[in-house]
Amino acid sequence: MKLIKTILSVVFLQGVQFFAFSEEISIETSNTLMLLERVEGDTLKFVYYGPRLDRIDQDRLLREKDPSIVLYGYPVFGTSDGAPYAMQMEHADGNQTLDLKVTGIDRRPDGSVDINMADRLFPVSVKLRYKPYEGSDVIESWVEVKNGEEGAVRLHRFDSSFLPIEQGDVWLSRLHGDWASEATLVEEPLRPGMLQIKTTDGARSSHYARPEVMISLDGKPCENKGRTIGAALEWSGNFSLRFDTESRRVHRFFAGVLAEPSGYVLDPDSVLVLPRVAYTYSRNGKGGVSRNFHSWAKTEGKVYRTDRPRDILLNSWEGVYLNIKEPVIEKMVNDWSALGGELFVLDDGWFGDKYPRNVDNSSLGDWRTDRRKLPHGIEGLIKTTQDKGMKFGLWIEPEFTNVRSKLYETHPDWVLRAGGRPLRYGRGGTQMILDMTNPEVRDFVVNLVDSLLSGHPEIAYLKWDCNTFLLNYGSSSLPADRQTNIYFDYHKGLTDALKRIRAKHPDVAIQNCGGGGGRYNYGLMPYFDEFWVSDNTDAWQRVFIQWGASMFYPPHVMGQHVSASPSHQTGRIIPMKFRFDVAMSGRLGMEMLPSAMTETERDFARKAIANYKEIRPLIQNGEQYRLLSPYGDSGMASMEYLSADGSEAILFAYKMKHYQNQVIPRFRLVALDPDAIYSVEELNIYPGVGRQVADGEKYSGRYLMENGLRLSMGSEYSSSLIRLKRL
Ligand code: DGJ
Repeated sequence: MKLIKTILSVVFLQGVQFFAFSEEISIETSNTLMLLERVEGDTLKFVYYGPRLDRIDQDRLLREKDPSIVLYGYPVFGTSDGAPYAMQMEHADGNQTLDLKVTGIDRRPDGSVDINMADRLFPVSVKLRYKPYEGSDVIESWVEVKNGEEGAVRLHRFDSSFLPIEQGDVWLSRLHGDWASEATLVEEPLRPGMLQIKTTDGARSSHYARPEVMISLDGKPCENKGRTIGAALEWSGNFSLRFDTESRRVHRFFAGVLAEPSGYVLDPDSVLVLPRVAYTYSRNGKGGVSRNFHSWAKTEGKVYRTDRPRDILLNSWEGVYLNIKEPVIEKMVNDWSALGGELFVLDDGWFGDKYPRNVDNSSLGDWRTDRRKLPHGIEGLIKTTQDKGMKFGLWIEPEFTNVRSKLYETHPDWVLRAGGRPLRYGRGGTQMILDMTNPEVRDFVVNLVDSLLSGHPEIAYLKWDCNTFLLNYGSSSLPADRQTNIYFDYHKGLTDALKRIRAKHPDVAIQNCGGGGGRYNYGLMPYFDEFWVSDNTDAWQRVFIQWGASMFYPPHVMGQHVSASPSHQTGRIIPMKFRFDVAMSGRLGMEMLPSAMTETERDFARKAIANYKEIRPLIQNGEQYRLLSPYGDSGMASMEYLSADGSEAILFAYKMKHYQNQVIPRFRLVALDPDAIYSVEELNIYPGVGRQVADGEKYSGRYLMENGLRLSMGSEYSSSLIRLKRL
């Protein structure tokens, strides 16, 4: 007891001292504040992240030192007092420790802050960077490391950011999955011990786990209430989000590139810029966090060109797969235009002159039209499509090759391979990944996309796919002592290539596809207009998959396609109306042979597409509120989209469970004007399926929010799309 008292009083004394020498560092958005402090001995402390504070409260926080813990702003191995750390560096002389002091703080007029830190012994520096986005309440935090030593240093751990979170009834929402079940929501309380969310795929960030989380501070996560933090790592490769809870007081959250198994070797005089972590905070639950991310993505260039409308497309994949034949494709194009389509996308199978791509085991890299399948080339198809007043798009998978390809025969050294070991193959038993750490390979990728687009300036859309993970860990372009950099440098190389492509082709729309939804992330989305959410187009399961994706990404950048019934993935038979109602909540498309539809279905599709054109601005520019969760007990799922001026809203409602004596909940809207009167109109009426509301019925906003709309939702796979207009 006596000993504890002594320690406390010493710390208290220090507390008085560092109050005297402290320098406050605040990063602010419209509604939030992140607060750090430079204290005695130029140490950096993390103080606070949450809503903006009055001066009086901020001062109290800075004074109020809890002597039981020491929190570093960016804890490093060697001086974090045994606590978990964000960075470990092995110096050129073998020393394994870091001891950072603050050397200066740069504040910019836009509110950005750089905290410059340097090791007290070695000439290495670590710059902590913070960038606030005022309107969307997002703060980015990341690190730049500079090696000023004579030899290379080795980073064994290099997280981009550290955030301590006070313990309490704290819950984590994260997204987990697999091919065809991406972004499945998992929610659990944070407990003592370590929870690491990570990916080791190498090429794709997120088939299994996703690099974004939400942290609910007020117990079980709710959609529209509760203090909630969101974090998204802006990185396309292997990542680690780690919650390390040792002491009773805080959960320590670390986010960054996964350092296992290799770490990073940083050359003398070089700077390593680590990926950014975007944080946001809302007191309006998960929905508030999502809306912040949506607004940030839309207004800050975090998704490419969110200002332009996304075209309604027909993709050939589930219609014909690799079995491309010119007359069939031309018929698809014609049928699509008759339905009101705007863009036709020719998927996999169109290329391969020496080796035809009839099976998914050849030809990647040989990006020349297979004239046996398309005698008039893609030029012919482009013309057919344009003659119908539509745009043309094309599938590519530029980072890959196959054993049976001219590319691999010519450049066997361009693939990643682990020294003399036999190659391991991905998709089709022959697919290999090109070495994007190699500048020559990057030039090849850039030139191939450039020559496709420059040779066919009519191509308005590319689908950039990635179907195999990074299998063979070894690069012939990196020196023997830099092999550990492959995972990081691959993605740096990919991003460099994308930047060069974007500089030359700013107007082409590009979809990010990762063998389904395995590769969308905020590291890549600044270069992509949209992403493919999943290869699972079963509309019922898509409600869950899209729900997960919408937690961090705005709906109109989510590719959502109506496909055939029975579903090719699950065999489920789902009515066409449900399929359209689900696809229309994002970027609408179709992925089937229009000729396989009945006349009634085609007629319905034509009207639904026309409806979508009308509601598209609201899907794109409105705010999304998730209402009834498919994960909940109501047996329903519903979402609302509200226009910026509140004058219009759309309600999507889906029946997810169906059984006798089922209680159908009312669909309560949110964020309407309680005193305004709204008229309702039901869209997408399918012949023979009853209306759920009478068109022109009027309700007050208060009624809609407190009592809610009564919809019958009687049959299995019942769904409803209601437009509300403020009178
Ligand atoms: C995986 C994608 O997710 C599919 O949509 C399709 O493009 C195939 N690849 C083509 O190989």
